[in-house]
Amino acid sequence: MKLKNKIALITGAGSGIGKAIAIEMGREGAHIAINDLTADTAEATAREVEALGREALAIPADVADAAQVDHMVGQTHDRFGRIDILVNNAGVYIPQDGGFTAITDAAWQRILDVNLNGPFYCSRAVVKDMMDRKQGGKIINISSVQAEVAHFDASAYQPSKAAVVMLTRTLAVELAPYKINVNAIGPGAIASEGMGATLGAEIIEAYRKRIPWGARGYTRDIATAAAFLASEDARYITGQIVYVDGGYLSDSTPTELKSQDHPVPPDDPDPK
Ligand SMILES: NC(=O)c1ccc[n+]([C@@H]2O[C@H](COP(=O)([O-])OP(=O)(O)OC[C@H]3O[C@@H](n4cnc5c(N)ncnc54)[C@H](O)[C@@H]3O)[C@@H](O)[C@H]2O)c1
Repeated sequence: MKLKNKIALITGAGSGIGKAIAIEMGREGAHIAINDLTADTAEATAREVEALGREALAIPADVADAAQVDHMVGQTHDRFGRIDILVNNAGVYIPQDGGFTAITDAAWQRILDVNLNGPFYCSRAVVKDMMDRKQGGKIINISSVQAEVAHFDASAYQPSKAAVVMLTRTLAVELAPYKINVNAIGPGAIASEGMGATLGAEIIEAYRKRIPWGARGYTRDIATAAAFLASEDARYITGQIVYVDGGYLSDSTPTELKSQDHPVPPDDPDPK
């Protein structure tokens, strides 16, 4: 087990990618503090982690609220005594029909509050103790391929995720003397319960043609990368953005020009 007896705090772990990370880190031996907006979703994930034989603590809190974040980190310390791994996963994507000029102040603000301020508040709250303990630590931020390439109707989401990339590099440099690794994962199109589930069949098919792998990724594809980055196997990796995207960012071929000799393969079997 890569993470035996480590203590991980994972935000937004009541569904999708965050839940998969909680389960994967639990499989690898970690005990997990599971944050989500609501108690019932956090508790559902906690039960799954406990079923693996690990300890789990469900903590409902809004990561966009600094006071709630400080309280959440305090609760985790009270229960487990420390935090070895922080995963800043909670994120929102508010569809912006009508594009840039149609986005409301409230939507712009909420996206930045959750996607950027959330990782800042959580990292700040967790890092103080990590620095004092001098035992190192791991921070993993969940960004997106949309930090690098723009998609229509995501004009607030994309800047928020690009800022997470720079926050990752900034913290990596500042915290390297404390042996705290700070990395990000940039998922491509992932078939998650929340964001990933809102797409219709036609759109999913269009993505399958656009992605070199020929399929969207599974939440577990992100989770195994996160478990690796949280482990001592990734000891010397810091300040990196690992894109888990089936080749999406590497491919500039217009879909219409893709070779007909390489038809889109069927979806891979879900490893869950
Ligand atoms: N699914 C994808 O294709 C995809 C692609 C790129 C990046 N991402 C990123 O991955 C992360 C997880 O996305 P997902 O697809 O699993 O989505 P999801 O909607 O399934 O899960 C997000 C979770 O975060 C929680 N959350 C939202 N706001 C919160 C807040 N303020 N405080 C605490 N929890 C909050 C939600 O309740 C939910 O449980 C997000 O940061 C997202 O931007 C997802």
